[in-house]
Amino acid sequence: MRIAAVADVHSPRFLDGFRASIETIEAPDLFLLAGDMVDRGKAEEFAVVVDLITDVLGKDFPIVACFGNEEYTEIRDKIMAQVGDRVIILDEQARVLKIDGVRVGIVGTQGSLDQPTSWQRRNIPRIKRTFERRAQRAAFLLNEIAPQSDKRILLMHYSPCIETCEGENMRSFPWLGSRKFYSVVTKQKPDLVIHGHVHNSVNHEAMIGNTLVRNVAFPAVGSVTELDMWSN
Ligand SMILES: [Fe+2]
Ligand SMILES: [Fe+2]
Repeated sequence: MRIAAVADVHSPRFLDGFRASIETIEAPDLFLLAGDMVDRGKAEEFAVVVDLITDVLGKDFPIVACFGNEEYTEIRDKIMAQVGDRVIILDEQARVLKIDGVRVGIVGTQGSLDQPTSWQRRNIPRIKRTFERRAQRAAFLLNEIAPQSDKRILLMHYSPCIETCEGENMRSFPWLGSRKFYSVVTKQKPDLVIHGHVHNSVNHEAMIGNTLVRNVAFPAVGSVTELDMWSN
């Protein structure tokens, strides 16, 4: 199964580079968007990214997305209205898709930070509690879809581990990800974790037990990430 994944296109900031990258690949079986498709809450840019993917690669594969911190809460309904026909958006939700005969269960979430940013503390009421709840919710959903899934993917924006943040200032991990999600991964053992948000990583891949973790942030990787998974 060929999976393409990207995060942090921040359209229009990295849109040209993203276009150049997907023009070099074949249509995948599944395309995952791990948040920050738009820059600073510009809702209509999400559809620009989605239309570009469809124009270049076609319609014969599902696109599944979670939101990033640049998709502000107040624009999420608008984004869903604009791209909901083409994109399965999982905002703390799960979906099981049958792809290539494999039942792929996907849990999508923005994820959590160990330390809310000062902006988040000022502007989002009870953000620390929200971050705790998100980890609990992701664990619940991963557990819930396990019986119907041959493979499980956790699609999230923030990082679940420090390894894929290498290249950033290591003391900044509390603003890049959350140890709570590390625990979710060690306990629930999904097959794959896709995340973004880490723009300056130099090591984009890690293993947590048997779980493959990939940072697919476009500015870090410099291209769309292609994975060949679970082939016979
Ligand atoms: Fe970003
Ligand atoms: Fe981000």
